[in-house]
Amino acid sequence: MKTLIVYCSKYGTTGECAKEMAEHIKGPVSLSNLQSDEYPGLKEYDTVLIGGSIYGGNIQKQIQAFTTAHQEELLRKNVGLFISCAFQDKSEAYFTDFFPDEIYEHAFAKVYVGYGYNFEKMGLVSKMLVKALAKVKESRLDIEKENIRQLGEMVNRLHGENG
Ligand SMILES: Cc1cc2nc3c(=O)[nH]c(=O)nc-3n(C[C@H](O)[C@H](O)[C@H](O)COP(=O)(O)O)c2cc1C
Repeated sequence: MKTLIVYCSKYGTTGECAKEMAEHIKGPVSLSNLQSDEYPGLKEYDTVLIGGSIYGGNIQKQIQAFTTAHQEELLRKNVGLFISCAFQDKSEAYFTDFFPDEIYEHAFAKVYVGYGYNFEKMGLVSKMLVKALAKVKESRLDIEKENIRQLGEMVNRLHGENG
């Protein structure tokens, strides 16, 4: 059973979460950054995990374009959704707002994976916004490792544990 993890990540946090997710999943796993990698095609995959991060109340447009364009094919597969964002209490609204209703209903999991602020990679405007709005002044990584592990376990169970 094969798994594809597609994601978008501006400063690397969601990418780190996707890589950690892959380590928990038995059997072959492919990772694809929708902003930089060639689109791999869904045909060979049994399970597709889709995740992005939130900026100014929006998820990356590539995530929405991907789920909309491949909705019919995704509905025939196991689908899991994940989001990285600073405001965990808003994550449920982000899932319902940014994924098509059918995909949201079909998904076996909607997982909040935590957040990070990477001041080394952020531009000046982002740094100023984070300092002003989030009152955070230096890099921070607050990943929900247990949620990520549980998502991997769910995939393993769907695949019959053997991968
Ligand atoms: C400029 C900026 C705006 C952000 N806006 C939001 C937001 O509207 N809601 C939210 O929950 N998190 C927001 N965040 C937090 C990011 O979603 C969080 O840092 C996430 O982990 C980034 O993941 P990435 O590095 O994979 O892109 C913002 C972060 C930055 C730097």
